[in-house]
Amino acid sequence: MSMEEARPGSTTRRPGATILVTDDEPGIRQALCLFLGRLGHEVVEAPTADAALELLERRRFDLVLSDIALPGAATGLDLLAQVKQRAPDLDVILMTGHMDVDFAVNAIKRGVTDFFKKPFLFEELEQSVTRCLDRRRLLGRTRELEQLAARHETLKSVQRDLLLTLCALIDARHAWSRRHGERVGALARSFAAALGLPEREQKLALIGGRLHDLGKVATPDALLQKEAPLDAAERAIVQRHALVGAQLLEPIAVLRPFVPVIRSHHENWDGSGYPDRLAGEAIPPVARIVRLADAWDALVSPRAWRAAFTRSAAAAAIEAGSGKAFAPDLVAPFLAHVQGGAAECAATAETPELDACESVAG
Ligand SMILES: [Fe+2]
Repeated sequence: MSMEEARPGSTTRRPGATILVTDDEPGIRQALCLFLGRLGHEVVEAPTADAALELLERRRFDLVLSDIALPGAATGLDLLAQVKQRAPDLDVILMTGHMDVDFAVNAIKRGVTDFFKKPFLFEELEQSVTRCLDRRRLLGRTRELEQLAARHETLKSVQRDLLLTLCALIDARHAWSRRHGERVGALARSFAAALGLPEREQKLALIGGRLHDLGKVATPDALLQKEAPLDAAERAIVQRHALVGAQLLEPIAVLRPFVPVIRSHHENWDGSGYPDRLAGEAIPPVARIVRLADAWDALVSPRAWRAAFTRSAAAAAIEAGSGKAFAPDLVAPFLAHVQGGAAECAATAETPELDACESVAG
């Protein structure tokens, strides 16, 4: 089918593009509009290069299809050069009645994507248009992915800075809290790894364990430093720290993945914990792990009102809490884990690898 006898009948259907057609002959513009319109594209016409440039200023196009010989001072080659200067990624297909080597070299130098000698077959034009638009879509998708990757990097960086700030805030309150948080984070992570949990859960355990008592920044010092067991009213105040920690993180999107761990690190398997009295499987899995690591570290550490438990006494206490405070399926593997030396490794843990939280960013 030639251009002159074009009777568009193709059933090709792709996402519609916006194509600028520039030709001084109304008949050719009409034929191209009809043909490209039947392919699902929106076609905008311009009779001259100046009119085409004016349209390019005003709206976005996916492709420019232009004749070489245009009325006025500017030719199709001038239009090509202008388009490439303004939008280097915008494809231009040229049509000419007189194809020669000089024209081809000139057009290629100026960045033409394809060219056709009139009269041409509409099937060939369709293939060329399709190639250009496919390439443009691919380019757009690649850009989107690059932008997403850059955004992800920024979020990771923001998350890391915020975590460092929160750790510094916790450390500024009490040195003991700091070492406790570091040990709990390291032990929770190593236990999560021993259970074969995915890397994301391991990182949630590490950071969730490090920050689990964040809410204690709002707990009065008199209660945190009291050298005697707390009474019921004092316990209620201290227990608010789980909720306060979660509420501090909740508004920050990049830290939201840690909220369930921090909020639920004092929930008990039998439903007697706080703040939500969750029970059994309703308790977030990583919170169950941090619950154990937190309890172990508290038991084997000295308190103002008691000496540290021995390891065997601490193990017995954990064992006694199976199915009550602790998830029963985790108790035996946890005790095997700490008895294998994991707790000693955790005790020497330094600041958690905050860089490692990247997979929970965003
Ligand atoms: Fe706590």
